[in-house]
Amino acid sequence: MLPTDCRRTLGKLSALIGHTPLLELCYTHDGVPGRIFAKCEQMNLTGSIKDRMALSILDHAYREGLIQPDDTIIEVTSGNTGIAFAALGAALGHRVEIYMPDWMSRERVDIIRSYGATVVPVTREAGGFVGALRLVDELADTRSHVFLPLQFANQANVDAHRLGTGVELTQQLASEGLRPDAFVAGVGTGGTIMGVGLHLRKTHPLARVHPVEPAESPVLSTGCKVGTHRIQGISDEFIPAIVDLSLLDRPIPVSDGDSILMAQKLAASLGLAVGISSGCNFLAALAVQKELGPNSIVATVFSDDNKKYLSTGLLQSEPLRDHYLSPGVQLKSLRVIAAPRPA
Ligand SMILES: Cc1ncc(COP(=O)(O)O)c(C=O)c1O
Repeated sequence: MLPTDCRRTLGKLSALIGHTPLLELCYTHDGVPGRIFAKCEQMNLTGSIKDRMALSILDHAYREGLIQPDDTIIEVTSGNTGIAFAALGAALGHRVEIYMPDWMSRERVDIIRSYGATVVPVTREAGGFVGALRLVDELADTRSHVFLPLQFANQANVDAHRLGTGVELTQQLASEGLRPDAFVAGVGTGGTIMGVGLHLRKTHPLARVHPVEPAESPVLSTGCKVGTHRIQGISDEFIPAIVDLSLLDRPIPVSDGDSILMAQKLAASLGLAVGISSGCNFLAALAVQKELGPNSIVATVFSDDNKKYLSTGLLQSEPLRDHYLSPGVQLKSLRVIAAPRPA
C-alpha cells in the first residue's frame, strides 16, 4: 500500500471508531437518587476506547511522514492498545509486535494474535511494564523500519480525546440542555483524562476533571510504583509523560474489588457487560456526585466490554467490604443519547 492508500483506509475505518452513544444511568445509592453519564466506548471497532488513540496516532504519523507502509508497529501495552494497533495494523498491511506484561488476561493475548500480530510477554522478573518499555526503547536503536507509537508520550493520543471524546460528550450533553459539572476517568496512558480535560478547561472552565486510580495502587497520588491491583488497563506503575497533574483535580481512589462488584452489577441489572475499569469509573463518578450534589452532571467513560475478562475475577464471587460503595447502588434505568453525526 502507498501512504496515500493507508490514509484513505484510515479514513474509512474512522467511520467505525468514536461517535459513541452517551448513556444516562439513573441509580439510587443508599436510597438517594442520582444519574451518571457514560460514553459507550465498548462500541468502538475492537471493543475499546483505545481505537480512538490508535487511529489518531497512525493518522498523525501518516500525515507527518513519520511512518512508512513497510514499517513494523511496535508498542508496549497492557492489552487494549495492542488489540487496537493489531486491528488497524492488519487493515493497513503493517506487521505488529506487542510487548506486554505476562500477567494480563489470556483473552487479550489471544485476541491480539487473532489479528496476526505477535505478542512478546514480559515477566515481572524482566521488569514487567517498565521493563517492556525499556526493552522496546533499546530495540528501536538496533532495528530499522519500525514505528513506535509511544502512546504514553504521544500528544496525538491526547488529541484523540480532546477533539473526539470530549467534543462528543459536551455536544451530547448540550443536546439535552446540560453542561458537565465533572468528568472522571481511570488513567492508563492518561490520554482520555487529559484530552477530555483540556477540552473541558476551554469550554466549561468550572467543570472538575478527576483522574481515577486503584485504591490498592495509588501511583498518581504517591508519584511512585506502589501496590498491585486488578483493574486492567489503568495504573501501569508510573505517571505517563502526557499526564500533567497540575491541570487536573485530585485523584479519586476506587478499590478493585468494588470495581468488580460494580461491573458485575452493570451487567446483571442493565445488560451493560462492561470491563472492570468501567465499574471503577462509575464508582468514581458516584463519589464525585456525592460531593457535588444529586443534580450535578457527572460524566465518565465505559472503556471496554467484559469479554476480555472472562477468565479474571470479574466472573468470580467478590467479597463485600464495609467501605465499598457498590453494595448500596441500585441501578434503575438507562437512556441512550445518540452519537453526534461525524463532521
Ligand atoms: C480497560 C481500560 N480502561 C481504561 C484505560 C485508560 O485509558 P487511557 O490510556 O486513555 O488513560 C485503558 C487503557 O488502556 C483500558 O484498557
